[in-house]
Amino acid sequence: MTRRVTARACANIALVKYWGKRDERRNTPATPSISLALSGLTTTTTVERFGDDPSEMPDHVELNGDAARGDSGARVAGYISLWRDLGLIDGAYAVYSQNDFPTGTGLASSSSGFAALAAALAEFSEQKLNAVNLSRLARRGSGSAARSIAGGIAALPSTSDPAARRLVEPNDVPWGMVVAIVETAPKTVGSTEGMNLSRSTSPYYGSWVTIAKHDYRAMLSAIRDRDLVRTGELAESNCYAMQACMLTTHPPLLYWNEVTTRLMRRVLAWRREGVRVYATADAGPHVCFLADRADLDALAGKAASVEGVTDVNVSLPGAPAEVVSKE
Ligand code: PMV
Repeated sequence: MTRRVTARACANIALVKYWGKRDERRNTPATPSISLALSGLTTTTTVERFGDDPSEMPDHVELNGDAARGDSGARVAGYISLWRDLGLIDGAYAVYSQNDFPTGTGLASSSSGFAALAAALAEFSEQKLNAVNLSRLARRGSGSAARSIAGGIAALPSTSDPAARRLVEPNDVPWGMVVAIVETAPKTVGSTEGMNLSRSTSPYYGSWVTIAKHDYRAMLSAIRDRDLVRTGELAESNCYAMQACMLTTHPPLLYWNEVTTRLMRRVLAWRREGVRVYATADAGPHVCFLADRADLDALAGKAASVEGVTDVNVSLPGAPAEVVSKE
């Protein structure tokens, strides 16, 4: 019987964003999305089966070395219960999850976190779960986690029970990302709450969903052609479209700060100077720059010198979620 499993997954950053839920219970996205997995932002999760009866011994969750309290602990515990309710596993579990980057600041930690957890839990299941099933299950934890199962460049459609599919293997992606970290305070409005608020209050929500579907199709073609200019321009404009929907939500979802705005302006200047670089940001203040692999180090230097940037992370395209040990 399996006792302990460690799995690792890379976070991913969307080039076409998922923002909005089609069905909250099954966590299906209202917008199709496309992402790049990042080798430098990983979560490593160890799951241990420590008892037969979770009603006697509740699951135990540690995130980055501390017992998980509040929403994050409850979310992970709820996710393990979902696997039990679906009849995929039984017993009680302890989860030890470690991120090598700031957690809960809008820097995609739920993508790698739930992908690593799903990959580890699958090893305790009697059922054979292939990558498609695993991606669907990861999506139930966090929509973006479905894409981290696939790694490389991955696409998650907005169909009724979607799984992400890998469009390009990590080694075949000619680009990487520099992530400029601008602050490590936890974000105020989580993505589920934010998405629900946007759907119910933003007058731009319908337009955003239409734009995202259009951008998804155009992005599939730009990526097939490995065309950085088209891919980058689309990623940047899709990010602004999502932010417009967020900003017109009531109360407004203003995830950016002064440093974010500074960086978004700076990327325009760098392009005018001839650098092939494009920017995107999620539900948080950090900025991710897409560029050719050969330009990443120089770009990291430029980003690090911008006032207010506290750290930079250089990432090549990341691998699919994988099991690293099993006892
Ligand atoms: O996977 P979630 O529920 O944390 O939502 C992700 C939302 C964005 O990061 C803003 C966009 C995306 O597609 O990753």
